[in-house]
Amino acid sequence: MTNDLFLRACRRQPVERTPVWIMRQAGRYLPEYRAVRARHDFLTMCKTPAIAAEVTIQPVDIIGVDAAILFSDILVVPEAMGMQLTMVESRGPRLDPPVRSADDVHALREVDPEKGLRFVMDAIAEARRGLNGRVPLIGFAGSPWTLASYMIEGGGSKEFKNIKRMMLDEPELLTKLLELLTVNIRRYCEAQIAAGVQAIQIFDTWGGILDPGHYRKFSLDPMFEIVSRMQKGDAPVIVFSKGASHALGEIAAIGADVVGLDWTVDIGAARSTTGEGVALQGNLDPSFLYASPENIRKEVMSILRRFGPGPGHIFNLGHGILPDVPVASAIAMVRSVHEESPAFHR
Ligand code: CP3
Repeated sequence: MTNDLFLRACRRQPVERTPVWIMRQAGRYLPEYRAVRARHDFLTMCKTPAIAAEVTIQPVDIIGVDAAILFSDILVVPEAMGMQLTMVESRGPRLDPPVRSADDVHALREVDPEKGLRFVMDAIAEARRGLNGRVPLIGFAGSPWTLASYMIEGGGSKEFKNIKRMMLDEPELLTKLLELLTVNIRRYCEAQIAAGVQAIQIFDTWGGILDPGHYRKFSLDPMFEIVSRMQKGDAPVIVFSKGASHALGEIAAIGADVVGLDWTVDIGAARSTTGEGVALQGNLDPSFLYASPENIRKEVMSILRRFGPGPGHIFNLGHGILPDVPVASAIAMVRSVHEESPAFHR
């Protein structure tokens, strides 16, 4: 591998500089992505390995990140379980019919990822060939709680009425759904590793909508089941629970190799909380990429300084890059990390 900084940082091994990649880096802020997207709908792109591989590699070529993340979506798993997935233009994803009853949960399938998600495995093989060892390839899945929220609400949500009602009124039903998701997601991650991804990130986008007690039971425990049982070979596992800064120590304790941080936490304080057992990933405010290159550099330096010297930091945004951010700003962030971080690794 030409550039293995990302994998070394995940393992807290010495690096010459801090590696950097960007959540949602294969996406609409890139004109090259929009050009491909103009010709195909989003799900066709996910399901056509040559196209998925092409857009996976775009940010490596264009903005110079130290890792690629497979172009796909967390919602292909509920689709493979039997739900109907549609991406509604400018309104986000829909999953139909929403899962609301015991019958709805019973109707969902266990997934054999080698069959039901074959297109993901083929895209991984194709992306690895295209990358040709330049940088590592990251695979991913949504957390059980996050996927359950899309499945029960039938799409995105502000109030999470239906899943929270089920959590309190029918906790056994929600637990049954989470158990099925936990098995499916673990097998899906294992299949991605077998197909060639070199690290896995679990996106727990909605863990942060829960109070600490319910977070532990309904979001963290299922992720612990996945991480502790996963046949992961030497692939590091990153757990990113957005909005769950109250639980960083607990996330580190479930066996994650890397804990992802949103931008509301001080990465230096997080390092003290999680200790030397895990690496940290993050955590620039995604909206800071609307500022000038000089101010982006200042904020990058501030995060590097707060993390401090030594290995175990993967630079990233604190959530996905926004679709209308200038490409030049993403490049400015990556370049600032590359130029400023060597001082912290001497
Ligand atoms: O990071 C990457 O670049 C890899 C690709 C990736 C996508 N989605 C592509 C995508 C990844 C890792 C995801 C994960 C994902 N998908 C999450 C978790 C990450 C997070 O941001 O918290 C979630 C919650 C989803 C569900 C999802 N998919 C939503 C809510 C939307 C619509 C919102 C939006 O941004 O428009 C999608 C669609 C989607 N997934 C797009 C992309 C590039 C936009 C589709 C388009 O081109 O129209």
